[in-house]
Amino acid sequence: MKHIYLNNAATTWPKPPAVADAVYRFMTQDGANVSRGSASERDLKSLGLLFAAREQAAELFGGYENAAPQYVTFTQNVTHSLNIVLKGCLKKGMRVLTTSVEHNSVIRPLRELEANGVRVEIMPCSQKGFLSPQTLDEALKERADLVVMTHCSNVCGSLQPIEEAALICGRHGVPFVVDCAQTAGIIDINVSKLGISALCFTGHKGLMGPQGTGGIVWQPDFADRCSPLAVGGTGSLSHEETQPGIMPDKFEAGTPNLPGLAGLSAAMEYIKDKTPAAIAETERKLGERLEEGLLRINGLHITGALRGEGPRLPVYSFNIEGKDNGILARSLSDIYGIESRPGLHCSPLAHRTLGTFPQGALRLSPGCFNTEEEIDLTVEAVKELQKSR
Ligand code: ALA
Repeated sequence: MKHIYLNNAATTWPKPPAVADAVYRFMTQDGANVSRGSASERDLKSLGLLFAAREQAAELFGGYENAAPQYVTFTQNVTHSLNIVLKGCLKKGMRVLTTSVEHNSVIRPLRELEANGVRVEIMPCSQKGFLSPQTLDEALKERADLVVMTHCSNVCGSLQPIEEAALICGRHGVPFVVDCAQTAGIIDINVSKLGISALCFTGHKGLMGPQGTGGIVWQPDFADRCSPLAVGGTGSLSHEETQPGIMPDKFEAGTPNLPGLAGLSAAMEYIKDKTPAAIAETERKLGERLEEGLLRINGLHITGALRGEGPRLPVYSFNIEGKDNGILARSLSDIYGIESRPGLHCSPLAHRTLGTFPQGALRLSPGCFNTEEEIDLTVEAVKELQKSR
């Protein structure tokens, strides 16, 4: 059976071979800790690797102070990044705005903060999954302490107007946090040009790195104002019993995922070489082919915007009349070897907005290693399943 991977919104696969090579090299040759040794050659090599990864991320996302690497914090994933930022800055009595298409990585920390006295307000998106800049502008007529929003919906692929939102937040003097889970490595985003306070990313999706890696690119003053989520050993200022305030140590207690970051560094090198624009273009073409094919299937309804209805990435969720999307996903996998993701995608609020709660939808998300033939085979498979009883 042919194997077709169409679950790149969950994690990209395959990874470029250089990523696995870098992890292997770290595990078998270079694997010393950082700032926690005798400054041996291997210690320094590990430190150099971590420093290089920070520089790459700062450069990729247009970091502040001429892409100063210390304002990149490495984390385990984007959920971890968002927890650090949201819990680090929001205190009782503060008001935070977000959108109605967020992933639970934003919603759950906010609901927890709400239980502790933070005012959480959800700005409604359209049924196609878009936030209008006017809605944000209107909501900011009342003083807010933070705006946090996803760049791209992991359910329907809708892209939010990040540039306009950043301008509006800047005009109102409100810190702006962006969840780039689906866009890092695919859409260029420059935090210092846009004035973003914290960009949260994951390493294992568009950046093509290993799972267990992610990060934050901070605006320096905003990083100063946030308190760390976890405190502990940093390999620095060891004579002090309190957490150092210096960056990047402030938010990075404990030994980092160095093998993962070795892989992420190789992945960022790959992305820089290929360019996010070229990767996005390949994926856009595959997505449009998929959309065209799916639209020809009787009783199939795509969630969110179709081509020409608004900016989107190729993340397609749909339902077929009379079919359970979980069973469809299982059949696609068992009969045709096609990997997808059914259900609510950790985004119940987004599904409510898009009109697909509680059943969810079947999601297909091509990546740049898919082929047109794989897309066509998938459309044929979905067509057969629609006809089957
Ligand atoms: N958030 C990821 C997804 O959408 C894991 O599948």
